[in-house]
Amino acid sequence: MKKVLKKTSVKTKAKKPRAVHFDAISIFPEVFGSYVDASILGRAQKSKLISFKAHNLRYWTHDRHHTVDDKPFGGGPGMVMKPEPFHEALVDLGLRKKKDGKKTAKAKKACVIMTAANGKPFTHADAIRLSKFDRIVFLCGRYEGIDQRVIDHLCDESFRIGEYVLTGGELPAMVMMDSISRQIPGVLGKEESLEEESWTSGSHPPSSELRGTGESRVASRASDNVGARRTRPCGDCSCSCDGCMRPADVSQQPGTGEYPQYTRPEVWLGHKVPEVLMSGNHAKIKAWREGMRKR
Ligand SMILES: C[S@@+](CC[C@H](N)C(=O)[O-])C[C@H]1O[C@@H](n2cnc3c(N)ncnc32)[C@H](O)[C@@H]1O
Repeated sequence: MKKVLKKTSVKTKAKKPRAVHFDAISIFPEVFGSYVDASILGRAQKSKLISFKAHNLRYWTHDRHHTVDDKPFGGGPGMVMKPEPFHEALVDLGLRKKKDGKKTAKAKKACVIMTAANGKPFTHADAIRLSKFDRIVFLCGRYEGIDQRVIDHLCDESFRIGEYVLTGGELPAMVMMDSISRQIPGVLGKEESLEEESWTSGSHPPSSELRGTGESRVASRASDNVGARRTRPCGDCSCSCDGCMRPADVSQQPGTGEYPQYTRPEVWLGHKVPEVLMSGNHAKIKAWREGMRKR
C-alpha cells in the first residue's frame, strides 16, 4: 500500500528589523513634516525602520498664553526657555520621572539630545553610535537658548551642527536625524553605500589633499574627532557604557562663545539658579559669565 506523505513545512521566524523612534520637541513642530516625509526618510518611515513625531512644547504649559520663555536671571538681551515644559514633555514620553527629573527605566535605551550652538560638534562617528539607540529625542531651542538646568539634568548629550548660530534647533534636529537614520540597517537599501562615504572612519582624505586652509583645518579637526571617539560595536570594550552607545570620551569639546542662561523658577526640582545671578551685582555677574564662557 502506498504511504501517503503529509505535507510538512518548516516555519522560520523572520527577524524583525530594528527600528528607531525619533521625537522632536519644538515650538514649531510643523516645520519638520515635508523634510522627514520625503525621499529616504519617508520610505524608511513607511517600512517602519524609523518613526518620527514632532511635539509642540506649548502643549506642556499651563497659562492661557502657553508661555515657554522668560527673562534671563542676571539680565541680558532676549528670552530664555523655561525648564518645566521640557521636563513635563519628557515625563509624558516616559523618559524622566515627574518628581525629580531622574531617568526612568525606559530611558536606558533612549538618548535625549540638546541642540545647542555651544554643544560639542556632531560628527559621523556620533551618527553611527546614536543609531544604536531605540529612541532619540531632540530638544529644539529658540530665543537665547534653553535654561542650563535642562542641559545639566534632563539631557544626555548636547550637539552643535556647525560653528555658526541658527535661529532654532529644528534644522539641527533634522540634520542629525537624517545622518543617524542612514546608519540604521535597511534604511539605505544597499549597505555598501555606507562603506566608503566621505566621513566613514579612515576613508576621508588626509587634510594635505584638501585645497584651502579652511577645508584642511576642518578636516583635520574632524579626523581628530573620529579618532578620539569609539566607533566599534559593543563587546570588545572595557568601559562601563551602555553597549557603546554612550560616548566614551566625555571630554569632547563644547563651543565656547555662550555662557549658561537661567530663567524662572529660581528653584526647579531642587536645582537652584547660581547665586551670583541673583545678586544684582553687575560686575560680579559679568565676571562670572566671562569665566563660564571660557570653560
Ligand atoms: C538663537 S539660538 C541661541 C544661541 C545662543 N544664544 C548662543 O549664542 O549660543 C536658538 C537655538 O537654536 C539652536 N541652534 C542654533 N545654532 C545651532 C547650531 N549651530 N547647532 C545646533 N543648534 C543650534 C539651539 O537650540 C539654540 O538654543
